[in-house]
Amino acid sequence: MINRLNDINDLTSAQIERLIALAEDILADRAKYQDILNHRTLATLFFEPSTRTRLSFEAAMLELGGNVIGFADPNSSSATKGESVADTIRTVACYSDIIVMRHPKEGAPLAAALRSPIPIINAGDGGHHHPTQTLADLFTIRREKGRFDGLCIGLCGDLKFGRTVHSLIHAMSRYDNVRFILISPEELRAPDYILEGALGGPNAAYRETDSLESVMPELDVLYMTRVQRERFFNEADYVRLKDSYILTRRMLERAKDSLSILHPLPRVNEIAVEVDDDPRACYFKQTYYGKIIRKALLAAMLGVCE
Ligand code: CP
Repeated sequence: MINRLNDINDLTSAQIERLIALAEDILADRAKYQDILNHRTLATLFFEPSTRTRLSFEAAMLELGGNVIGFADPNSSSATKGESVADTIRTVACYSDIIVMRHPKEGAPLAAALRSPIPIINAGDGGHHHPTQTLADLFTIRREKGRFDGLCIGLCGDLKFGRTVHSLIHAMSRYDNVRFILISPEELRAPDYILEGALGGPNAAYRETDSLESVMPELDVLYMTRVQRERFFNEADYVRLKDSYILTRRMLERAKDSLSILHPLPRVNEIAVEVDDDPRACYFKQTYYGKIIRKALLAAMLGVCE
């Protein structure tokens, strides 16, 4: 049973495999699962904006027969009156069975989970972790590639603030012979704690570059990310860096036919709209798979499925 999901490292590889297997079964037979969370309630507490994560969790819960409460804007909650996150969690736990929480402060969902009588899922905390996006990414990679081992994955864009990148590196570095190519401007390099921690092992070779075009022919997976405007202290730095990479159809001419292009979305400018029609573009499928794997996660964390 999974009691808490703060960081992708809260899940063993065996648990990830079981979630993927359950998600496959949910994809194959939606009707079989339509009532399994009857009379259960999910609370979505979003202290920071979201489209995909919040709505996919809510759709997932409703499609499993459950109920949803929550807020999408903390300004409509008693947080504006000075209520602490801990008190908010203890209150919401009186009305629900499981909480999904996004917060701009790194560590806030973990601190909440330590005080919570019910399970809490981290839906993104600052530039730190986003484990359910990683489950969506892993499910997409598995469906597209059929494996995790032996892939060359390029991570491109804002590797400093991009929490989805940090969580995905942690997850993929568990598998054999994965090669990471970290593509970013110098100012947006992945933090040292990621490079020295997750990528320090013998199975996770990596190199850094600022040139997407030069590494394109090597890639099996290209994971594009937006520059995270909301994490910058200085607007001028954001404006200087925001268009560092724009993936175009022309740039893909040198890529493998089997390349899979992922992006956690939202996209700003980093993938030209003309790429959406390329059969290698997987990012909207990835969004759909995010709902399916979140259905599997809710069912597993509420003890209804293995
Ligand atoms: N990928 C992702 O977390 O999207 P949202 O910010 O829209 O939830």
